[in-house]
Amino acid sequence: MDGMTFNPSGEWPEADALSYDDGVKARVDHLYERVKDVVTPMEWPKFAPVIDAILRLKQARGATILAHNYMTPEIFNCVGDITGDSLKLAQVAAEAEEDVIVQAGVHFMAETAKILSPNKTVLIPDLEAGCSLASSITGADVQRIKAAYPDLPIVTYVNTSAEVKAYSDICCTSSNAVQVVEAAARQWGVDTVIMIPDEYLAKNVAAQTDIKILTWKGSCEVHEQFTPQDIDDLRAAHPDAIILTHPECPPDVMAKADYAGSTGAMAAYVKNQAPAKAILITECSMSDNVAVENPGVTFVKPCNLCPHMKRITLTGIYDALRDMKHQVEVDPVIAAKARASLQAMLDLPKADTPPAFDTGKDAVAVPYVAV
Ligand code: 13P
Ligand code: SF4
Repeated sequence: MDGMTFNPSGEWPEADALSYDDGVKARVDHLYERVKDVVTPMEWPKFAPVIDAILRLKQARGATILAHNYMTPEIFNCVGDITGDSLKLAQVAAEAEEDVIVQAGVHFMAETAKILSPNKTVLIPDLEAGCSLASSITGADVQRIKAAYPDLPIVTYVNTSAEVKAYSDICCTSSNAVQVVEAAARQWGVDTVIMIPDEYLAKNVAAQTDIKILTWKGSCEVHEQFTPQDIDDLRAAHPDAIILTHPECPPDVMAKADYAGSTGAMAAYVKNQAPAKAILITECSMSDNVAVENPGVTFVKPCNLCPHMKRITLTGIYDALRDMKHQVEVDPVIAAKARASLQAMLDLPKADTPPAFDTGKDAVAVPYVAV
């Protein structure tokens, strides 16, 4: 058999037994053209046989791979079937036709996929792929907030556990956060909304709307590291560059940017506006993936890695498909409640292009919930 060395019993080999032979070259070397500016020629012989095996195994298992914008470029561009931001991946997970979903992203994303597609097998290559926001709050915390503020809706970022979603009223992502906060306030007939657990996202949303917001002391360990001084230094070094930030950044960072929005919004901006030079203030791999799509744009890459996203590797994806592990399960009672919060979000009108945050707005006071 050319290309892949399967053992005689027909089982799929260990990843390190896959070799870069003529069959592999014939089947997948054309993919290198796409990633040649972000994957070195030294790396390709290591990646190619695993990519080849994943593409075959994916077919054998009837699987689809959902890859977040923060995946490394060889995953994002060579094995991802659907790629995008958290909102797009949730929308797709709800409608997937395949029996098996592999989440190339972190655990809350896999849990979201399982909640929205309970009859499908959802695999995550590494169960330890967490998130500092998801670990900042528990279901019990949300129950205490609900008890303290029974008349206010709880808008919960999707970067949370199933239990946290279950005790919330509606979910949001950074692509629809302002829309969700305003819809929740309207629906509940109130002027104040609780938005958890990202205090920076909450503050950035509060600056965009007249709705008052209470929040929780959680943050993204990647985006909280950026400082206003970083933006000043980047501007001084690259006065011709457009600077884009993610709304998980602190407000004083966002205020110095030219544009702010979800990972999907940033990618759309670069594609539509085609700036000569761009700086994405977000996770490292995002620039590589947007660069592949936009070869005419020069990227400066200030780099903060998400250690959780980086637990997902090509080899991990191969092992997940080969051994059908790690299957994500959610308690059915919790899942049903969490689904209601996610569905309330998914039922809102969809934007054609993810909206931007206006970076010119004044900061607004956003207190923490008192619990
Ligand atoms: P979005 O892709 O929704 O912008 O989220 C960014 C993020 O940090 C996901 O973990
Ligand atoms: Fe969580 Fe931040 Fe990593 Fe996204 S980038 S998974 S919000 S820690």
